[in-house]
Amino acid sequence: MAGFFKSLFGGGESAAPAAAPAPAPKQVNKGHKVGITDTTLRDAHQSLLATRMSIDDILTVASDLDKVGFHSMEVWGGATFDSCMRFLNENPWERLRKIREACPNTKLQMLLRGQNLLGYRHYSDDVVDLFVKKCVENGIDIIRIFDALNDVRNVESAVRATKKYGAHAQVAVSYTNSPVHNTEHFVGLAKKLKAMGADSICIKDEVGLMVQMHTHYTTGLASMIYLKAIEGGCDVVDCAMSPLAMGTSQPADEVMVAALQGTPYDTGIKLESMQPIVPKIKEIRSHYKEFDIANPGVDPSVLSSQIPGGMMSNFLSQLKAANALDRIDEVLAEVPRVRKDMGYPPLVTPSSQIVGSQALMNILAGGRYKMVTNEVKAYFQGQYGQPPAPMDEEIKKQIIGNLPSITHRPADDLAPYLDEARKEIGDLAKNDEELLLYVMFPQVAKEFLAKKNA
Ligand code: CO
Repeated sequence: MAGFFKSLFGGGESAAPAAAPAPAPKQVNKGHKVGITDTTLRDAHQSLLATRMSIDDILTVASDLDKVGFHSMEVWGGATFDSCMRFLNENPWERLRKIREACPNTKLQMLLRGQNLLGYRHYSDDVVDLFVKKCVENGIDIIRIFDALNDVRNVESAVRATKKYGAHAQVAVSYTNSPVHNTEHFVGLAKKLKAMGADSICIKDEVGLMVQMHTHYTTGLASMIYLKAIEGGCDVVDCAMSPLAMGTSQPADEVMVAALQGTPYDTGIKLESMQPIVPKIKEIRSHYKEFDIANPGVDPSVLSSQIPGGMMSNFLSQLKAANALDRIDEVLAEVPRVRKDMGYPPLVTPSSQIVGSQALMNILAGGRYKMVTNEVKAYFQGQYGQPPAPMDEEIKKQIIGNLPSITHRPADDLAPYLDEARKEIGDLAKNDEELLLYVMFPQVAKEFLAKKNA
């Protein structure tokens, strides 16, 4: 197998012209055991089945997955919290406890959006602290924390709480291309995260922490990226069981295990241990046909446009509604310009939505920044945090005028909220977990709790 990959990827040396200066001696990588984080119960169904997998279906495979020997299983966080209550009438905390009970052997992992937790705005530090405490108490071992702008101040509070309650704080760096996102930029970021107390990092290792890679299969590059990352020293990769892998999800567990078998990067996982799980997950997937985005294959156009798939489908539906589908090319060309004006934010939740809707307005409103969204106004005021590069000063002036802007950590402006929230929800919340449902999604939680208590 190793020979196969050498011939597939190792063309570089032999293709070098004879006259080229002697290359620096190649660092010999002796190999290391690679771990796999299985995302089947979180990112995979969030990416392919609109986050609809129910706890009943999860429990038909959880204990099998627990026995495979994964480095960890990502089972909670991201959109699952919201989706549990909103669509499945499930208490997300109860889901976590049931998965914990079914999986005594494997570390459980979740995804947390920094100071936004599992919501879409910044929460005060007392909320962050209690939320993280309850995640750990209910069974989470590893919390992967990220911020859309890679502003380390927006993950600080969550990292502190994660360590305080004894879990592993993994900070994810959102990777992106731009004139300011060079190796030094990412290494500098990684060093700051290490100084802050991060236990591991997603993507790049130049600071001596364990490094994990997370990517989606959309461009078709994912498994090749993983292989090169592993050769470069990456310790753990995110994959999903094959019936819920590839497309907009992650590469397949089985394929990665097979590719690394017998190489210096062997995962130690036995392929046979996964085979009986495959038909069960196929069966589960068949329960969600109405939400299933089917098999999208790969979409390499993302590589040149740099437009994430979700943003593209939003553009198309909004332009269609405005009867302006023919202007899609103008909108696509406007995205990198808006991103530059905003200091090159990576295009992930929520910055992708903020950049995308502004690019659309700039084209449809007959002038750049003639109309701006409230989010863009808040962004230019510094309320989302500090972007990777300075924002365009002229445009900032045009958008916020004399409105105040901040350079400090946005959550410093948020007063403690838990006491107030307790008063607001009253007897409807019976414990801290239920209180946090309300803090995260007030309207949805009220209905959910009222139904439950009825
Ligand atoms: Co993901």
